[in-house]
Amino acid sequence: MSELVAYHVQDGVAVISINNPPVNALGPGVPEGISNAITKLHADHSAQAAVLIGSGKTFIAGADIKQLALVASGAQTKLQSLSPLLRAIEDASKPVVCAIHGTALGGGLEIAMSCHYRVAVKKARLGQPEVKIGIIPGAEGTQRLPRLIGIAAAAELCATGRMISAPEAVKLGVLDAIVGDDLLNEAIRFAKNCAGSKEPHPKTRELSKKLIIDERTQEGLQQLRQGLTKKARGMQAPARAIEAVALTSHLPFEEGSQAESQLFQACLKSSEAKGLMHAFFSERAVSKIPDLPKDVTATPIESAAIIGAGTMGGGITMSYLNAGIPVVLKEVDQEALNRGLATIRKNYAASVKRGKFTEEQVEHRLSLLTPSLNYEDIKEADIVVEAVFENLELKKNIFAEIDGFAKEGAILASNTSTLDIDQIASATRRPESVIGNHFFSPANIMKLLEIVRGSKTSPQVIASSMALAKRLRKVGVLVGNCFGFVGNRMFNPYTNEAQFLLEEGASVAQVDKALYEFGWAMGPLAVLDLAGNDVGWRIHQEVKHTLPSDRRQPVMTDYLYHEKRWGQKTGKGWYRYEAGQRLGLSDESFEKVIRSEARKAGIEQRTITDEEILERTLYALINEGARILEEGFSIRSSDIDIIYIYGYGFPAYRGGPMHYADQVGIKKVYKRICELEQQQGPWWKPAPLLRQLTESGSTFAAFDHQ
Ligand code: NAI
Repeated sequence: MSELVAYHVQDGVAVISINNPPVNALGPGVPEGISNAITKLHADHSAQAAVLIGSGKTFIAGADIKQLALVASGAQTKLQSLSPLLRAIEDASKPVVCAIHGTALGGGLEIAMSCHYRVAVKKARLGQPEVKIGIIPGAEGTQRLPRLIGIAAAAELCATGRMISAPEAVKLGVLDAIVGDDLLNEAIRFAKNCAGSKEPHPKTRELSKKLIIDERTQEGLQQLRQGLTKKARGMQAPARAIEAVALTSHLPFEEGSQAESQLFQACLKSSEAKGLMHAFFSERAVSKIPDLPKDVTATPIESAAIIGAGTMGGGITMSYLNAGIPVVLKEVDQEALNRGLATIRKNYAASVKRGKFTEEQVEHRLSLLTPSLNYEDIKEADIVVEAVFENLELKKNIFAEIDGFAKEGAILASNTSTLDIDQIASATRRPESVIGNHFFSPANIMKLLEIVRGSKTSPQVIASSMALAKRLRKVGVLVGNCFGFVGNRMFNPYTNEAQFLLEEGASVAQVDKALYEFGWAMGPLAVLDLAGNDVGWRIHQEVKHTLPSDRRQPVMTDYLYHEKRWGQKTGKGWYRYEAGQRLGLSDESFEKVIRSEARKAGIEQRTITDEEILERTLYALINEGARILEEGFSIRSSDIDIIYIYGYGFPAYRGGPMHYADQVGIKKVYKRICELEQQQGPWWKPAPLLRQLTESGSTFAAFDHQ
């Protein structure tokens, strides 16, 4: 047999094992190998049945996404169909048992469903996660799964991409049995039993029970669709998956499969698939750091100390506790400490209520927490994370203190969102140990961790922070040390532009709605109200004397601060908020104030279109991103995309701001920015890299995934 698929007979059963590490993906050669093995099985008198199994850590974890991406981008036109293989397995003259460990996903589950029987170890997980890369199951998954488990359950799995555990899979009817951990021998025993049976071996494609859309199913589908309008807003693949599954109620298998294939092809060509596949590869590329010596190893982190139990310190503490890392949480006084601890407890209690954690899990987490008022207690920590107020002098003092107590080799991290890591590091005798670990609020939920390298940060501290991010279940992205790093540096021109549009005549609701409908999790003004307009004002006070005098500044900054329109926390900001509500309501009287302040500043009022709102805010983001990239503060263009998807709620199906620029066309973006520079002023000067890419006909993708 081929190297990718092996065949041997054990105890009268043919063992067909797939060996395509790391995840036995269905790359070139694998389907052919399985097909040859099935042919061999037919003629092999020494085998009465077969077991199909994956070598190594898992069964087939899915299609070869690189190949899918080539077809999606148009670089390759044809994808090999799995259907002939599925048919060959199902029509085999001897029973074929699929033995699953690790995961059986996408094409892997489709192959499993074409086997006559399926058994798995208890820890195995199964699913059709195609929607997560913007497509639907394309090898009969939407036609086979409902034949096994019914339309409603299959639609839910295909439309959400949710993975199920082996016990749930048995309950639903995807698996025939859970077997012990000696999977191969258990599966062989199972196969021998099947071979002895006089009954015909079940073929999924011929099952026709549970394929009616009765009232209950109708209700289930309706609920599913409603849920998706929120969770998968702006995406098409989930609705297409439901459509394909529902076909089973009235189309025979062959016709249903052809219709599925057409829906699959339409998805594959969509910008949604391009964006989500780009996000998929970009996320996997962030851990590659070109200048990190190969022999650098990460220091294991077994304990942490966190300084400051405010909004961020509390959330960061929870992230560590959730990863099983003990934390010493230090505050200035008992009152602040009690407040911080109460918030942590309240948040955990809410998680228990929502069913995310059990009481025991929370208790275990809290048992790992040591509240403290003394620096003495940080002595044993492998990492110290500072999360006190955003003030350079204060942070320098605190780092000098930490330096006096932390053990040798400990990582000293700051959660600053804008300040200079080198300045902070200069307060210690060990700048090589200092690094930025910039979490996003709420820190126990948001997946992004910007890891900021200072000029002296050692490779080992960088490698350790990257490994730690994974342990905390975050996506760690390494960035350079400039004002606001990558995320906030870009966010500033983006939110400024949103405010300029208001000053020129757009309403708060119009600006936010345009960007929300583009796909952002929230509009920019709602985000400012969430983060606190007082925070923006404070940062502005720190930097305003350093800004060039020809830069336009938002006119409402001082007003918002002095009128205590700080946002959600004071019940009013760009919006007004009813007590206890997070949803902002339009505030007509405040809109009038914006108009009058703008007029006072000599700004002409006009009608603003949604198209202008999108162009000005998004192109401001892209222009700053291009600058960051050419100045070397981001390793890859795709790293910027990941920062925006995981830290700022940019729609993943648009692939991130830089990928979006490629999709719009660099030339178009550049041309419009040049016009805006003429119309608006020098802050719209195009980044030299944009001009360069336009002239050379290149794209940001040239700076991706390397
Ligand atoms: P916060 O005001 O909620 O908390 C700061 C805490 O630090 C307070 O509880 C204070 O008592 C404590 N503290 C001050 N001096 C201390 C000392 N010497 N020892 C121990 N504790 C001390 O502030 P927040 O929002 O948590 O911000 C903290 C840091 O995180 C800042 O650098 C901020 O820029 C950054 N950050 C904030 C984000 C946000 O959305 N709030 C997002 C990302 C970063």
